[in-house]
Amino acid sequence: MTLLVTGGSGFIGSNFILNWLESESAKVTNLDLLTYSGNQDNLADIELNKNYNFVRGDIGDTELVKSLLLELKPTQIVNFAAESHVDRSIHGPEAFIRTNIIGTFHLLECVREYWSSLPDKEKIDFKFLHVSTDEVYGSLDVDEEPFTETNQLKPNSPYSASKASSDHLVRAWNKTFGLPVITTNCSNNYGPYQFPEKLIPLVILNALSSKQIPVYGDGKQIRDWLYVGDHCSAIRLLLNRGITGEVYNIGGFNEVRNIDLVNRICSILDELKPDPNGSYTRLIHYVTDRPGHDYRYAIDSSKLSEQLGWKPSESISSGLEKTISWYLNNLEWLDRVNSGEYQNWIDNNYKERK
Ligand code: NAD
Ligand code: DAU
Repeated sequence: MTLLVTGGSGFIGSNFILNWLESESAKVTNLDLLTYSGNQDNLADIELNKNYNFVRGDIGDTELVKSLLLELKPTQIVNFAAESHVDRSIHGPEAFIRTNIIGTFHLLECVREYWSSLPDKEKIDFKFLHVSTDEVYGSLDVDEEPFTETNQLKPNSPYSASKASSDHLVRAWNKTFGLPVITTNCSNNYGPYQFPEKLIPLVILNALSSKQIPVYGDGKQIRDWLYVGDHCSAIRLLLNRGITGEVYNIGGFNEVRNIDLVNRICSILDELKPDPNGSYTRLIHYVTDRPGHDYRYAIDSSKLSEQLGWKPSESISSGLEKTISWYLNNLEWLDRVNSGEYQNWIDNNYKERK
């Protein structure tokens, strides 16, 4: 088995590759453009591992991708590569259209050409797993049932619209050309190596730097939180036993209001790294809301649990403890990320918010 992972230097992709190499003997190649969120530090420990290979490049670069496929002859591909931050998609949607839609299209075309050339047995065993998001389903009210795989796609942000478009392309390449694909729609991930533009690492970083902790709107929005290790275990299970042509939801069974989550992070930090100036909750500030802010996401992942027996192993309490401890033990990683480009983004996103 040979695996090609795209976007493997980002948050989820790097966790996936690290987990993979801990227990699998198969080779993995990581194709990543190293945009602002791709970070070579995440994979520094495996740089010399003979089963790991890194290629810097764009999923939309057809010449590169075609030659890579011919050289590596992957039996499975996991597509993590994407622009992933909703707020950035509001400030500048173009990169989202370029990578998430056009890039996915080019990748699918290259993979289709490669897959068509395989002998029949290898064609049947091949899998292209596309990593998508619960945001494609839109927003729920508090009393609505969680999203299932048959929900209509109703994306509300440029990010989720671009991901929904890519999901449609992936589906069409299966229905029309027979490409053996699996699409996964998962909830909010958290854990080690997450870029601190996202809520959980942003709260940790700001608290440790005694900066304001910005909570959008009234803070009552609800997200379902999935520990990244549990997401990776679901993807590996689907690579082994998932049925091609199918969509699978992956959820954390951890619905929490943003303000409650922020308070929990502060109280764990109060215990693990008390601040002489008082509880970190003193830094919480309500700021102008995100335009088009989805109120609630909730995922019904009974298809995955009933058909393949998957369930997450971390609760929000155990997952947050692990995550916060990881950041406290990796302050150098955080320091290196907290530099030039990141500061420009923080100015851009927060200076206008009252
Ligand atoms: P991330 O932003 O941390 O990482 C994205 C990676 O993709 C980076 O390494 C970046 O360099 C790379 N990349 C971007 N454009 C590329 C291109 N054109 N070609 C090659 N590489 C490129 O994102 P993440 O949080 O790790 O998310 C990974 C995937 O999971 C994305 O598809 C995202 O939509 C999806 N997802 C994320 C979450 C979450 O909570 N983080 C939840 C559901 C789904
Ligand atoms: O649901 C899955 C999605 O989760 C993924 O598809 C995305 O790639 C990922 O970024 C994430 O999207 P969110 O918009 O839910 O994540 P974010 O961490 O940006 O925000 C989580 C919630 O916290 C959301 O309701 C907005 C709010 N928030 C966020 C930031 C950055 C704040 O209140 N303050 C902030 O400063």
